[in-house]
Amino acid sequence: MPQRVLTGITTTGTLHLGNYVGAIRPCIIASRETGVESFFFMADYHALIKCDDPERIERSRLQIAATWLAAGLDTERSTFYRQSDIPEIPELTWLLTCVTSKGQMNRAHAYKASVDANLAAGEDADANISMGLYSYPILMAADILMFNAHRVPVGKDQVQHIEMARDVAQRFNHLFGQGKEFFVLPEAQVDAEMELLPGLDGRKMSKSYDNVIPLFEGGAKALREAIARIVTDSRLPGEPKDAEGSALVTIYDAFATSAQRAAFRAELRGGLAWGDAKQRLFDLIDGEIGPMRDRYDTLMAHPERIEETLQAGAAKARAIAAPLLATLREAVGLRRFQPLKAAAAEAPKAKAALPVFKQYREADGRFYFKLSTHDGRTLLQSEGFAGGRDAGEWVKKLKTDGSAVLAGAPVARGDGVDEREVAEALAALIAAAAE
Ligand code: TRP
Repeated sequence: MPQRVLTGITTTGTLHLGNYVGAIRPCIIASRETGVESFFFMADYHALIKCDDPERIERSRLQIAATWLAAGLDTERSTFYRQSDIPEIPELTWLLTCVTSKGQMNRAHAYKASVDANLAAGEDADANISMGLYSYPILMAADILMFNAHRVPVGKDQVQHIEMARDVAQRFNHLFGQGKEFFVLPEAQVDAEMELLPGLDGRKMSKSYDNVIPLFEGGAKALREAIARIVTDSRLPGEPKDAEGSALVTIYDAFATSAQRAAFRAELRGGLAWGDAKQRLFDLIDGEIGPMRDRYDTLMAHPERIEETLQAGAAKARAIAAPLLATLREAVGLRRFQPLKAAAAEAPKAKAALPVFKQYREADGRFYFKLSTHDGRTLLQSEGFAGGRDAGEWVKKLKTDGSAVLAGAPVARGDGVDEREVAEALAALIAAAAE
């Protein structure tokens, strides 16, 4: 099976140069590899969480769609769609919502950050927090699991969401799969590129810092003006300049070949004026994105062409989503009516033997716990804790959050035990506790 790569962009604004260098360009390049099937989409249901301005939603999803196409996405090779054109996604969201523990959502970073901000402002903890924001990770899990994506390129801030998607996938597989796996467990792919492009002031390029260089909006003029505002040191023309730590040089590098990078550094050491360096940067960037901007402007003038492309993309996506959703509906018991299987309906559900946590104290006076299979094989062995309470806290965390907290837990896996077996054992315990 080819590797499936999937990512979405929330459609609340326009894209800047950092989005292009960090997300669009690497995704398009990766989509050309053989053995890779790519899914790229406009996360417009996610946009509704943060934005109640219909015109802004409409504008942003059109602009972002046009950006992908102008940047060279091949929609024959990849599947390109709007999230909101795939009704299977919200339907899957509900099925997943019903197997997601509220406690786990309480610990989502985005939600916790909003709660902290409320408390800091002396407000009620949940002031202005919608159920959409709260359940955001489940919608995102549905985006990913609907297409059985193996890899999900995202920024660091999204990694927790991918872990939650894995977790809910495992729980669903365990509860309803009867040995069959409905979902691939996705992995986050965090490339250095996704984070690195600095903005005008040297901090990460981000709308929230107001330091962005626009990608297409405003044309070459806006690009030139933004570049003119990149902060440099005060060395005069003729003075040697240091490339190290210069935002201008880092942005240059993102568009340059290694020969161009070396030549630019040599010129700076030789005293190139910052004004001239900015001209060189403009020429370099515009050389790459100028032709795309022309395509972008043409597409924006013909939204019906983009609409047609996206309708075709939605049909392609739904051809994958609909059969999987039909299987899932069947699995949870939403079936076409037929005579009930009387015996099966009456028989108590055979309980699989569950793994167990044991807490104990060793001769060294320290407190330990382990997780073993019902037949006594060690899956996890903890470090020694000074207090029994600390060991107990970890057991509790593992029992409620499952594999989401494994990475930071002071435990080692038993001999010959892989990550997956542990994750399934934890999922089984959580599911049993929920019954
Ligand atoms: N939440 C992501 C962000 O804000 C966007 C997104 C929605 C996404 N669904 C996704 C990313 C699925 C990857 C996979 O950046």
